[in-house]
Amino acid sequence: STPELQLDQKPPLHTLISSHDLEEVASRTISKKAWAFYSSAATDCITHRANCETFDRIWWRPRVLRNVQSACTKTRILGVESSVPFFCAPAAMARLVDGEGEKGIARACAKAGVLQCISTNASFPASEICASVPSHPFFFQLYVNKDRTQTDRLLKSLPSTIRAIFVTVDAPIAGKREADERVRADESLSTPMSGAKAKNDKKGGALGRIMGGYIDPGLCWEDMKWLRSITSLPIVVKGIMSVEDAVMCAEAGIDGIVISNHGGRNLDGAPPSLRTLLQLRLARPEIFRKMEVYLDGGIRRGTDVLKAVCLGATAVGIGRPILYALNYGEEGVSHFIEIIRDELEVAMKLVGITNLGQTSLECLDLGEVET
Ligand code: FNR
Repeated sequence: STPELQLDQKPPLHTLISSHDLEEVASRTISKKAWAFYSSAATDCITHRANCETFDRIWWRPRVLRNVQSACTKTRILGVESSVPFFCAPAAMARLVDGEGEKGIARACAKAGVLQCISTNASFPASEICASVPSHPFFFQLYVNKDRTQTDRLLKSLPSTIRAIFVTVDAPIAGKREADERVRADESLSTPMSGAKAKNDKKGGALGRIMGGYIDPGLCWEDMKWLRSITSLPIVVKGIMSVEDAVMCAEAGIDGIVISNHGGRNLDGAPPSLRTLLQLRLARPEIFRKMEVYLDGGIRRGTDVLKAVCLGATAVGIGRPILYALNYGEEGVSHFIEIIRDELEVAMKLVGITNLGQTSLECLDLGEVET
């Protein structure tokens, strides 16, 4: 179908009032290839579903008569001011849905005071994305290259507005994403990538696998020392799925972790992120004082954001919903950010708190989640 026709099928943005609405519209109006790449998850999608569903098993313990006329959602992430305790998770190839790709996301984030983590596999070089909103701070997600000199060069080339490095460790190889595999990545893929060279796989195959060929599956704990030696920026390890590895990060002097299973895209059956966060909070509460802990996977509502923060997360990352919102360009991302910010503010007031410093386990009823 022609682009005009696709546009016609999109309802006006203001009629979409939740992340679910934006997802539904994206499912029928973005290209098959983009939908397959963005929405897919590993094999039976058990972890992907559980990421979302686990939030529904935690109840609130709302308190009343607490004067909730106004509520403040501001926080700091690694010392960087943020208007909300959520950020844009790194995701490859935003240009598959919108020509401005990550630059559109950047402009929407900058307007709203939200932080964006730029992927190594973004559709534009980080310098270009950062230049689209001069002086706005960013984070950079790193996939370590088998050729370490390339990684060294990449880190040295980053603009000064990058404030932290998120090194992804849950994807030494790409998972088997069947929706993505069914849409064969062929020569018609016209979206250029930076950072990674999209080698054309003779067998066709999934975008994730083609893109990830340069990632070093040999990466290990020793390499975190090497990474520390080549950058002075804070280092966050993204893709922690166990209490043990969270503790090892703290002991290694890492500045933060993202509890994440890559949105269920790699190992199906990996624990839902919220479960791991809860286990860490209950078993090792002191870890949260040693480093910042973030979570991503399954955040679709402001209430999800607040539940994770009550469990000790400084902030959460949001992946797919931002890409679905980008279906409406920069404006769509702005609209989405405002939806989640508003839902968060409403949830805070109804729980009986007016700033994020008041979040705690006391706000939650964990009766129905087993750890
Ligand atoms: C991702 N994710 C990801 N992570 C990363 O570290 N580097 C990357 O390049 C990508 N690319 C990517 C592409 C797409 C299309 C998706 C959906 C995800 C994972 C991402 O950062 C995050 O962990 C999950 O998306 C979080 O789950 P939700 O919010 O999508 O449920």
